[in-house]
Amino acid sequence: MLHRQTPKLKSKIFAKLKLPIIVFLAIFLGLLFRLITLAQTQQPVVLNLLMTAPDAQPWREGIVRNFEEKNPGIRINIVEGPNATNLLEDLYTSAFILGDSPYDLVNMDVIWTPKFAAAGWLLDLTDRIKETELAAFSQKDVEGGRYEGRLYRIPMRSDVGMLYYRQDLLQQAGFNPPETFTDLIKISQALQQKDKINWGYLWQGRQYEGAAAMFVEVLEGFNGYWVNPETLEVGLDKPETLKAIAFLKDTIQKGISPPGVTTYIEEDTRRIFQSGQVAFLRSWPYVWPLANAEGSPIRGKIAIKPMVSASGQSGGACLGGWGLGISKSTRHPEEAWKAIQYFTSEEAQRQFILKAGFVPSRRSLFTDPQIVSKYPHYPQLLEVVDQAVLRPPIAQYAQASDILQRYLSAALTNRMTPETAMKAAAEETRRLLEIRG
Ligand code: GLC
Repeated sequence: MLHRQTPKLKSKIFAKLKLPIIVFLAIFLGLLFRLITLAQTQQPVVLNLLMTAPDAQPWREGIVRNFEEKNPGIRINIVEGPNATNLLEDLYTSAFILGDSPYDLVNMDVIWTPKFAAAGWLLDLTDRIKETELAAFSQKDVEGGRYEGRLYRIPMRSDVGMLYYRQDLLQQAGFNPPETFTDLIKISQALQQKDKINWGYLWQGRQYEGAAAMFVEVLEGFNGYWVNPETLEVGLDKPETLKAIAFLKDTIQKGISPPGVTTYIEEDTRRIFQSGQVAFLRSWPYVWPLANAEGSPIRGKIAIKPMVSASGQSGGACLGGWGLGISKSTRHPEEAWKAIQYFTSEEAQRQFILKAGFVPSRRSLFTDPQIVSKYPHYPQLLEVVDQAVLRPPIAQYAQASDILQRYLSAALTNRMTPETAMKAAAEETRRLLEIRG
């Protein structure tokens, strides 16, 4: 009897013990699962974004921090790249070509959209934003984000080439700001002769995208053109182009620009100008707050104006600018869109501009009281932006610019005569566009 009862008793005891173990295990597993999911949901999504160093600093110091405070689940990882826009473009390009790009957001120069969109590297943003919302931005900045009627980039900031000058030196010497290329040369020489400055004029002459942007301004000032986007006619071998090159070469030959100018990018020219040794500089508005910062030898001594031109012509300001797209390979498109919405918002742009002196892409900010009280010239800047010259908005822009950069550099550094260089540049460009100009 006892023999028969033992297993029953055993299983009773076991059953009594098993139940609490099962309950305990269930609770334990449940807790563990909750902890894991909690940890996972608390793990922020990191959005990677590559940009030039002068951009990175004001991004990090202001808008990124604010965005992260508002969105604790998202972190922005800014990767600092080279200062020249085309080197940055190369880095993005090689990341995309290799396949799984590490970048979620794409900080894009206004001229990159056709190439990046055509290659299929970007998400189509057309249906995410209404045309009425886009109307708040400068039209040309928005157009720079479209490709074949679809939208791939939202403008974060605009940009426009300007002429900086030393107001103090010009006033002391009794000069009005220059209006023509000839004025610029004369005033430079006069100030150099008075030993006021080492150099008259600085511009970006290295073989890179910045030289193409600088060149369209001089070209416009001589009433020339690079590529007509409507007819695809090429103007590089026209007399106006040769006059533009002659002016630039003249600045070197007359000792107004240093011989090294043909190797300079924006930051080289800003540093030399800021040291106080130069009368004029062609650059973008980012220079303004840096040149006027505490400790800068030219603080409070500079002014800006639209680029000069040949007599009787109007000066050209090249339209630049940066915007945000979303990489097609991102695993976080919704978070990336949230970030774009914030970074292109009025609030973020205002803060960014107050910090870094960039040009807004939202039109209302040019007359925003806070911005105007810090930068009184912004209402006029809007007029300059509206009249700015675009680098040709054509699908083959990247190759066209490469051709111009190569031959322009050859002409500026005396490796080819301007005539031969521009004939070759025009022919190559025509072949690229498959028409006879
Ligand atoms: C500025 C402009 C950009 C241009 C570049 C050239 O960053 O915003 O559009 O391509 O300069 O160096």
